[in-house]
Amino acid sequence: MTDRRKILVTSALPYANGSIHMGHLVEYLQTDIWVRFQKLRGHQCTYVCASDAHGTPIMIKAREQGVTPEELTASVSREFVRDFGDFGVAFDNYYTTHSPENEALTVEIFEALKARGDIYTKVIEQAYDEQEKMFLPDRFVRGTCPFCHTPDQYGDACENCGKTYTPADLIDPVSVISGTPPVLRESEHYFFRLGNYEADLKEWMEEARLDRNMVAKLTEWFDAGLRDWDISRDAPYFGFRIPGSEDKYFYVWLDAPVGYPASFKNLCARRPELDFDEYWRPGHDTEVYHFIGKDIIYFHTLFWPAVLKGAGFRTPTSVFAHGFLTVNGQKMSKTRGTFITARTYLDNLDPAYLRYYYAAKLGPSIEDIDLNLDDFVARVNADLIGKVVNIASRCAGFISKQFDGLLADRLPDPAGFDAIAQASDAIAEHYEKREFSKAMRRIMALADTVNRYIDEQKPWQMIKDDARRDDVQAVCTQGLNAFRSLMIYLAPVLPELALKSRRFLGEESWCWDDAGTPLLGCRIARFEALLTRIDPKRVAAMVEQSKESLEATPAGGTDEANPLIDIDDFVKLDLRVARIESAREVEGADKLLALDLDVGELGRRQVFAGIKSAYPAEELEGRHVVVVANLKPRKMRFGVSEGMVLAAGPGGGDIHLLSPDTGATPGMQVK
Ligand code: MSP
Ligand code: ZN
Repeated sequence: MTDRRKILVTSALPYANGSIHMGHLVEYLQTDIWVRFQKLRGHQCTYVCASDAHGTPIMIKAREQGVTPEELTASVSREFVRDFGDFGVAFDNYYTTHSPENEALTVEIFEALKARGDIYTKVIEQAYDEQEKMFLPDRFVRGTCPFCHTPDQYGDACENCGKTYTPADLIDPVSVISGTPPVLRESEHYFFRLGNYEADLKEWMEEARLDRNMVAKLTEWFDAGLRDWDISRDAPYFGFRIPGSEDKYFYVWLDAPVGYPASFKNLCARRPELDFDEYWRPGHDTEVYHFIGKDIIYFHTLFWPAVLKGAGFRTPTSVFAHGFLTVNGQKMSKTRGTFITARTYLDNLDPAYLRYYYAAKLGPSIEDIDLNLDDFVARVNADLIGKVVNIASRCAGFISKQFDGLLADRLPDPAGFDAIAQASDAIAEHYEKREFSKAMRRIMALADTVNRYIDEQKPWQMIKDDARRDDVQAVCTQGLNAFRSLMIYLAPVLPELALKSRRFLGEESWCWDDAGTPLLGCRIARFEALLTRIDPKRVAAMVEQSKESLEATPAGGTDEANPLIDIDDFVKLDLRVARIESAREVEGADKLLALDLDVGELGRRQVFAGIKSAYPAEELEGRHVVVVANLKPRKMRFGVSEGMVLAAGPGGGDIHLLSPDTGATPGMQVK
């Protein structure tokens, strides 16, 4: 084993305004597998992340929901933590960018860059929404593409022809927030002189040994010339205020990556063995890696290293980018039911399946990866259940039933075991280089050889011959040891399965090198199914659920069972406060009470309400309720009902009348 390395790993900080979906999980699972591998190898590896809490979209979303951005991001983060936890993504710290640590570090960085002369201000023109009194980010302006005339395009680029432009170029632009045409307005912004760092960045690019696809992109950007970076936004904005300014805020992408060291700093306060400076100031023997998606390479390989360098921090050891996820060969789609959230997946399937499938597909490049749902079922069932788990289930029964759980104290085929042990370095190297698909292929090939061995030995026949009982025990011990070594190799990918397997084998802990020494002469626990096959019906159910759950919620969307109404429909309802003057039971009706209501200016009403099972008539007198006053009178067997009283609950004894707060008087409108 090499020396104990000190490694800090991050995944990109997810925006705290949506749900974690299958696409995000490519990144968090990839990172988690790599981190777990490093830990299993005995290195000090720390994995931090956080919610990206700032920016206009989050501010707007909070406003729409009638909550503060702090409340919105806190509740979304709680959901993230649950999703990640249930997928086995084991952060050492999950924090938020809206933190005191982040603000302090961001300001420190800004001041340092300013002192070096890397910051200047300049007046720019930007789209402004006069009704909302705010500047509009490009994505908040829509209009007709000036090139191909496709309507309803974003202010930065056309989805039809792919051309880029500014919101001012759009034909008939409107603000997405108010629907009014924006005007151009001047404002002073802060800029970072990225161009000052060209030489540093080129040097860093070499040192970081970036993937060649990334090098190609960077080279393109260098050739085009590095443009200065606008790092400020005007109020109203959810972010950190720029010191020395009245109403300017740091652009979310300035403080977002600072969330990496800030989350780490927050962790250091709880972990005495971690020293912030050792990981974030230059000149230490530590490693820092960022795992990201290909869409945010620019921020992580130009701005971020430049900012760190300028402000006197260390630069990342490297940045690892992955591609985008497609499902069944296409972009994730809400109508096809392939926009699958983490939670919808978990409602239907075991996370181990997805962890394995992604591992089996992932390499170190920025190529996109496809989650083909048929292939997913076939591959996971064939490999995980058919190859790996199968070894244990074929051998464990004999050991527990015939040998009281005792393993033999020898291996009948030491060479077979050595072949697995000797694959250790190659598999480790694959993991280290993020060649997970190669690692999985190698492990599955080894599993094939073990299954062949069991096929040849046929313990199920041997056991019929009393003279060969020892051989059965030995063959099954061989099989279980192979299973054990493979499970250790798979532990970064399948932590839950590895844990169950380790307990079944009666061991306290596993490290990578344990795969090289067999477990002999010990007693193991009874075998219980470790993992069952994927039922394709569950996959179909998950796709169905993804159609439903998303169609019923977003603004503007409807479905037949739950159509959305607009405000005009709503105002048609004449909801009024009413006082129950008297209530009486109705002869011949088990559920109804007849209520005599005082509805103020609308006069007296008689309403039949199905609330008898929950309210004795005599208790209702004098009580204020809410009534739908413009419901068409309905002729019932007992008389005419002239409205409807609102109540909550499923029925029976579980009915709860809605009552206005004290002070409301009969006839008042409810809006
Ligand atoms: N908040 C920024 C990152 C700031 S890092 C200082 C952001 N957030 S995100 O929620 O949009 O994305 C988080 C990560 O998930 C990114 O690395 C992104 O590339 C990745 N993915 C989001 N959708 C994805 C797919 N469909 N496929 C694969 N990865 C995807 O960007
Ligand atoms: Zn166009």
